[in-house]
Amino acid sequence: MANDLSNRLILGIESSCDETSAAVVRGGTEVLSNVVASQLIHADYGGVVPELASREHLRAIVPVVREALQRAGVAYADLDAVAVTAGPGLAGALLVGITFAKSLAFGLGKPLIAVNHLEGHIHAVLMQADSLGGPFIAASCEEGGRSAPLLALVVSGGHTHLYLAARTAAGTWLYRNVGKTLDDAAGEAFDKAAKLLGLPYPGGPWMDALATHGTADTTLFPFTQIKQKATGNTAPKLARESAEALDDVRFDMSFSGIKTAVRRYVELHAMQPAIAARAAALRELGLHKARPDAANLALALPHFDAQTLNLIASFQNAVVKNLARSTFRAAEQYRARGVLVSGGVSANSHLRKIFTSVAQCDKLPIAFPTVALSTDNAAMIAAAAWPKFLAEDFAPDTLEPTPQLRLG
Ligand code: KG4
Ligand code: ZN
Repeated sequence: MANDLSNRLILGIESSCDETSAAVVRGGTEVLSNVVASQLIHADYGGVVPELASREHLRAIVPVVREALQRAGVAYADLDAVAVTAGPGLAGALLVGITFAKSLAFGLGKPLIAVNHLEGHIHAVLMQADSLGGPFIAASCEEGGRSAPLLALVVSGGHTHLYLAARTAAGTWLYRNVGKTLDDAAGEAFDKAAKLLGLPYPGGPWMDALATHGTADTTLFPFTQIKQKATGNTAPKLARESAEALDDVRFDMSFSGIKTAVRRYVELHAMQPAIAARAAALRELGLHKARPDAANLALALPHFDAQTLNLIASFQNAVVKNLARSTFRAAEQYRARGVLVSGGVSANSHLRKIFTSVAQCDKLPIAFPTVALSTDNAAMIAAAAWPKFLAEDFAPDTLEPTPQLRLG
């Protein structure tokens, strides 16, 4: 029976923002295919335009799903369930994926599974649990959570959240939010600061690549001070673990101040004419919709002076240090037995370096997704659906998008 189950195939569908993605995952962990179509059109506007996103999803969904099946070498009839992102995300964008998934599940007579996008990001790490080892796979709690949970940072363009995550003996997962950004998501701050400096959209990967050519000035951006306070959080999903750990302390974060500091720096140092010239030059080189691979980076680099590269390195360092401080303080407070970091910004090379070194000092196991699974993709949706599939936690055929869907 167990063997039978481990062969089951879930088709995952993700359309919450500007990536249309479909993936076939076997047994919750083995990615047979993971097709991601990124919408380049938003680069013209320097940010995601919701109406355009819905239209692009409509165009892409059928060919993307077809390609995912082809690459996996399976037919529709071989699928055992269809999993789809139900939220959070853009309403129109979510609607495309959900409508497609509902129709497909109904047509095939297979169960439909609704997945929270944020839980998907966490499972982009957990799906590699076998290679991660004990702290990440052991059950944390029987009923209601008794032993140490994991601490998960989900950090992307739309979200920056800290969760306690615990696996029940039944194999399902429980979450409790213990921190979030009070303003911009960290990825949003990366993208906005990048735009201010005349970089292509999305700017996060460009900032990462360019920062390695600059030197961070740690005095430029001070640590963001957020008053940590008890909230009376009733934590309905994951119960508090012990009397000592019940102190509801939150680890909220803020990134808009760092972004505004970049704007002030630019104004103070009269950098705008150089920035406008750079943006025009990158456009002329055809880089405004490009990713910063080695060739594109070599083309772009001559258009950056040392002052700008140092500013980029300083900004990145400030964002990463703020994220690390909140994450490891929360891990200590809640006595986490391991830390996992996921979401688009977890692809950042400086973040991985700093988090890995702090985790080593704190003697905490730490895990990241592969870079391909860091940003939005459907494999993580199929992976997060797996425990629900086993528990027969299926969605009704009336499933609708929940743009503000919360986790924990
Ligand atoms: O997870 P994701 O694909 O979508 C959301 O759920 O938001 O994350 C996209 C975000 C963008 O803000 C992008 O700039 C950022 O992740 N990002 C990065 C890097 N790669 C992607 N930020 C910093 N460094 C990177 N290497
Ligand atoms: Zn995401």
